[in-house]
Amino acid sequence: MALYAIGDLHLHFQSVLKAPGQRHGVWRNHEEKFRKNCMKMITEDDTLVLVGDHSWGKNLSECELDMQYIMDLPGRKILTRGNHDMFWDAKKTKALNEKFAGKLEFLQGNYYTYKDIALVGTKGCTFEGPFYLNRRGQIVGWDEDAEEHSKKLVAREAARLRESLEAARADGYQKIIIFLHYPPTNILEKESVFTRMAEEFRAQQVIYAHSHGDSRFYDSIMGVYHGISYSLVSGDFLKWRPMKVVE
Ligand SMILES: [Fe+2]
Ligand SMILES: [Fe+2]
Repeated sequence: MALYAIGDLHLHFQSVLKAPGQRHGVWRNHEEKFRKNCMKMITEDDTLVLVGDHSWGKNLSECELDMQYIMDLPGRKILTRGNHDMFWDAKKTKALNEKFAGKLEFLQGNYYTYKDIALVGTKGCTFEGPFYLNRRGQIVGWDEDAEEHSKKLVAREAARLRESLEAARADGYQKIIIFLHYPPTNILEKESVFTRMAEEFRAQQVIYAHSHGDSRFYDSIMGVYHGISYSLVSGDFLKWRPMKVVE
């Protein structure tokens, strides 16, 4: 029995692929590579958390085959929201949980458990620029309007995460793992509202995705920081092998 995580499947069985780079290299036939890895690694007793960006579909009807693909993977499947998951309105998570009851579990504003661990999660958010660089590639400024907008999204996501953490704590859970789609910090930050919340609630791990490609993989914290283990699990970073989070 084990808990696994991976993010960013970016499925498009019925929808238009909006990132042409996702046809090549590590992305070539990635659905098949990932499915085969899951069949080898994951048993029906295991739990797999999919950390956002599940589908390019604009709405649920454009995601039906993508959801079917996920349902057909072995084990229990828990999903968190990504920035591209247009099918998932955060306020309608309950309806998704009802529609896919017994097949998929949608983690937003609620929490799930694995053994004695509370699994808590939300999309998260971090300011990603645009940044302005000088000739040496050093950051000399950034888009202030984009930064203002992202501050509002960060505050909203932080409130959502706190709600879930408090619900888990109220029910007596001491062990907590936090799943975010966005990295907890951007390339300018050493800490954020999300890392501080992870410390406040003494989370064991923070798992995140969203970062694609060699130039972005190392944007945020990896490894142990202030006693908490941070891991990037975007599918292309993991080469489509889910990461074992705990036994
Ligand atoms: Fe993504
Ligand atoms: Fe993303």
